[in-house]
Amino acid sequence: MKVFELKKDFFWVGAIDWAVRDFHGYETPRGTTYNNYLILDQEITLVDTVKHDFSGITVKHIKSLVDPSQIKHVVINHIENDHATSIDDIMALCPDATIYISERGKRGLDRFFDTSRWRFRIVKTGDTLNIGKNTLQFIETPMLHWPDSMMTWCPEAGILFSQDGFGQHLASSARSDDEFSRCVSSVVLDDAVIDYYANILMPFGQLILDAIANLKKLGIEPEIIAPDHGVIWRAHPQKVLDSYVAMASGKADLRAIIVYDTMWHSTEQMTVPIAEGIRDSGVDCRVLKLRATPMNVIIKEFWKARGTLFGTPTLNNIMYPTVAECLTHLRGLRPKNRIVGAFGSYGWGGGAVKESYETFTKMGLELFEPGIQVIYRPSVEDEAKCYQFGKDFATRLKEYHARF
Ligand code: FEO
Repeated sequence: MKVFELKKDFFWVGAIDWAVRDFHGYETPRGTTYNNYLILDQEITLVDTVKHDFSGITVKHIKSLVDPSQIKHVVINHIENDHATSIDDIMALCPDATIYISERGKRGLDRFFDTSRWRFRIVKTGDTLNIGKNTLQFIETPMLHWPDSMMTWCPEAGILFSQDGFGQHLASSARSDDEFSRCVSSVVLDDAVIDYYANILMPFGQLILDAIANLKKLGIEPEIIAPDHGVIWRAHPQKVLDSYVAMASGKADLRAIIVYDTMWHSTEQMTVPIAEGIRDSGVDCRVLKLRATPMNVIIKEFWKARGTLFGTPTLNNIMYPTVAECLTHLRGLRPKNRIVGAFGSYGWGGGAVKESYETFTKMGLELFEPGIQVIYRPSVEDEAKCYQFGKDFATRLKEYHARF
């Protein structure tokens, strides 16, 4: 892949990771990119680095444009390993460059590298760096999504270097949103934005709203949003901003999903009349089996739907392990404005449905109670109860959705 000029003198010099499928436990079936950017102004500036495995690629890209020893400034917007771990290799080529980083970023970088070799300037919101025709303005965005995170704004070019914000895990030969939509599909791109948001940024909704409001307050209206993953937003930057505001405000579809696992198909059998009851009440319903569906897809679908029912058999008096794992993921992501309920089969003592509700309560989710349990295998009468359970859930879901 060659470098990509997103605007005169502003180049993408990153790397495409076509192969990654496990991104620290988050499944990335479409791979990802590690984006960094080189600005060829009077004072040559590199914005971010890439994951260490791809150092050679970004160095090759930089060398195709300039002798790396001429790099005068290196901005590190975020120190997570997928962005900062080739700093060592970069600084070996431009040892006199100054690194611009947030105070918490510097403290974090100290834990990974011998930083005493390098020159730093600690920056905070409002600090600027003039590099010739262009100015870089730093904006701290703590906890979006790490404490060190910041963005860099270039007013002359209208480019916002947004680090993880507005990214997508998409490996593609297309570098921009318009190119991706033309060559692949805007539907795939929209889906990748939601997937990324749900799996990474879901806990930070209010911070995202505050950050976007702060950009407006600072008069920042980007012509181009250049994230550190996925395509660059140059055709429709406002679209991704609007999409983030909607997601951060708790937007969801009036739809139900059923997330379940099963031992001997009894809990699975319950999903059929429950889904029918939901659909017969005029609500779309999708059914997702845990061991057949990647966790990132479950989380994305959970996030898109206003209501979810979890189906879990009882195993050793508690939830089925895959259901517990799913709820552990979701607890960490702190979803809001969603209604949930539980059902399942058991053999003797039961316990999984009760434990599910205890978990939902800890998560602060709206409860659809009581859950429904059947012993061993659903009878015809049990199936009728399951159908009614689905109908009642749909009724409650519609009432709850109307509040938003
Ligand atoms: Fe893409 Fe927070 O790293």
